[in-house]
Amino acid sequence: MTRSTTFPTNFVWGAATSAYQTEGHPLADGAGVSIWHRFAHTPGTIADGTTGDLACDHYHRWPEDIALMRQLGLPAYRFSIAWGRIFPDGIGRVNAAGLAFYDRLLDAMLEAGIAPWATLYHWDLPAALDDHGGWLHEDSPDWFTEYATLCFRHFGDRVASWATLNEPRIIADRGYFRGTGAPGHRNLAAVPRVVHHLLLAHGQAVRAARTEGVDEIGIVVNIEPREPASSMLADMAAAHRGNVYFDQMFLDPILLGRYPDALPALLGEHWHDPDPRDFARIAEPIDFVGINYYTRVLVRHDPANPPVEEARVRVESAPHTAMDWEVVPRGLTLTLLELTDRYGNIPLVVTENGAAYDDPPPVDGLVADPERVAYLRSHLQAAHAALEAGVDLRGYFVWSLLDNFEWAHGLARRFGLVHIDFGTLARTPKQSFHFYREVIRSRGAVALAPVGDLATE
Ligand code: FCB
Repeated sequence: MTRSTTFPTNFVWGAATSAYQTEGHPLADGAGVSIWHRFAHTPGTIADGTTGDLACDHYHRWPEDIALMRQLGLPAYRFSIAWGRIFPDGIGRVNAAGLAFYDRLLDAMLEAGIAPWATLYHWDLPAALDDHGGWLHEDSPDWFTEYATLCFRHFGDRVASWATLNEPRIIADRGYFRGTGAPGHRNLAAVPRVVHHLLLAHGQAVRAARTEGVDEIGIVVNIEPREPASSMLADMAAAHRGNVYFDQMFLDPILLGRYPDALPALLGEHWHDPDPRDFARIAEPIDFVGINYYTRVLVRHDPANPPVEEARVRVESAPHTAMDWEVVPRGLTLTLLELTDRYGNIPLVVTENGAAYDDPPPVDGLVADPERVAYLRSHLQAAHAALEAGVDLRGYFVWSLLDNFEWAHGLARRFGLVHIDFGTLARTPKQSFHFYREVIRSRGAVALAPVGDLATE
């Protein structure tokens, strides 16, 4: 069989951002406070003491950013809608100015020939709802459905593809157990409740989408495959536990209609059997699963650790990004193959993939980021290998279009194809931007060709 040297013609090429990380001015024009605004303004939460108050100022500079997308030849742009701009109190009163902001953005994208991929929830719950318990509250799925329904009605004529939640595992684990993300709780007992409410919120929103005539909707999960540090049974069991808690906890209910068998034992006394009827609401058919892949995690058994903690092993000899994430492209191929194996031939999209590096500042309008180019190239090759092996992979989105506010790391981790000077807000396309433009233009050929064959960078 001859190997194809490009990606399929209908393959979707994109780049991604999220609202709180890029827009800035989170309270402008009547928007309500979000849990991330509140968290970032709590002393000691963000490593470099910054907030999303200004971020990339995309809220005002979006015309310039759309011009950059045009320059990139970008076919699709994944962004998120800030719930609190639309419903300042979370539910009830609608803020017309918030709708108008996304109207302008969507219209400009369409005018530029860019397909809008909208994520409804990228972690910025209205704080007014958190005051009532946030995702711990049994009404939270209904709150989300009210917000989602309005978005489908108002923006549905222009959005090409919808995602309900971004990385629900991070919402539950980091936000309610580890406390390193908003709303900053540290209580394992919260996790099963939050997980269940997020699942119901997702399913109910999908059902509402169908009622509103939406024909493409999915969910975005982050997969960080756990691999055992040795072939000892205890290490293999530790890796398996990690895969259940970190990767299967959401997709099993959505795609198989049940929680993983091993989950109750992992959550121990905190587990409560859900009402079995809930799974009919959760497992609404979806059109794709979005996968955010950055790295794998190597684990070993540590008897001192509670089940949902894990002892990670750092491979000192391997390359790592500025997040200290090991660069493991084959993990993407394996992830896509394993998902296809576990859940059947469901359409998959890589909705985030990319790397933070300590890029040098621009010199004469150029930013040299050869490590990011190499990272993207190797992961595109890994994605292509999965396609060749029969995975129904529909698209690939780079995280991120712009350097932005990287959550608890603040502005100190740069993932962008475009460099942002956070003092002047000047935008400078990096070497990786020019590389990705050629990737898009050549349908991937530039990334798949042996280095040196096609001089592009
Ligand atoms: C993912 C998030 C995204 C970004 C990248 C680096 O977990 O979805 O917002 O922070 O990691």
